[in-house]
Amino acid sequence: MAVWIAPSILAADFAALGQEVDDVMAAGADAIHFDVMDNHYVPNLTVGPLVLRSLRSRGSCAPVDVHLMVRPVNRLIDDFLAAGADGITIHPDADEDPAGALAAIRAGGAKAGLAVNPDDSPDAVAPLLDAVDTVLVMSVRPGFGGQAFMPSALENVHVARELIDASGRNIRLAIDGGINQDTVGAAAAAGADGFVAGSAVFGAPNKAPRRAEDYRRAIAALRALAAGAANRRG
Ligand code: DX5
Ligand code: ZN
Repeated sequence: MAVWIAPSILAADFAALGQEVDDVMAAGADAIHFDVMDNHYVPNLTVGPLVLRSLRSRGSCAPVDVHLMVRPVNRLIDDFLAAGADGITIHPDADEDPAGALAAIRAGGAKAGLAVNPDDSPDAVAPLLDAVDTVLVMSVRPGFGGQAFMPSALENVHVARELIDASGRNIRLAIDGGINQDTVGAAAAAGADGFVAGSAVFGAPNKAPRRAEDYRRAIAALRALAAGAANRRG
């Protein structure tokens, strides 16, 4: 099982976002996790497709996974596809037609993801497994970076892993929220193979200076701990 690590821009320095993206990719990240919040589905506001478009215009070809914490999702799916998203993950309760939204993501040539909130059961994704490339289990309530990992999410990872294995499909099982060196091993042992990490890679907000070498060390440590736990899982 290959370990996939995606730093979340939520903990990056937004005033230097292009450089931050370059730095974490050079430091060994597999993709960029692009958290989009609308002050409606979640009580926080971040960035939209224009910012992804700017990264692309600047020349960044990093794989970008957009995590849409917005309601509704349709219009923004089209805009993010046009802006150059490689993957888009939606929350199933954020739209009247999640199956249609997932189909639109794939039709636009991107990978389709479905998130599972901490209080929801992954069983809800079972009927949609044919339509998804990623299941994103949330280990915090969506809305803010830097929250504590919710251990109850491990059970959701475990259930999602069984559903994915039973489906025989090639679906990434990623976990998002509070992933750091203390929690990544338990997530991998429960069956996750993708790890979103904001503060554990970029550091605490306003902590200066941030150095590319720190990013390399943080990503390597998460990768090694996840791989070790996944191997023990067998
Ligand atoms: C939470 C976001 C997460 C979060 C991860 O709503 O979806 O991606 O930013 O940040 P950390 O790793 O700091 O919990
Ligand atoms: Zn996220």
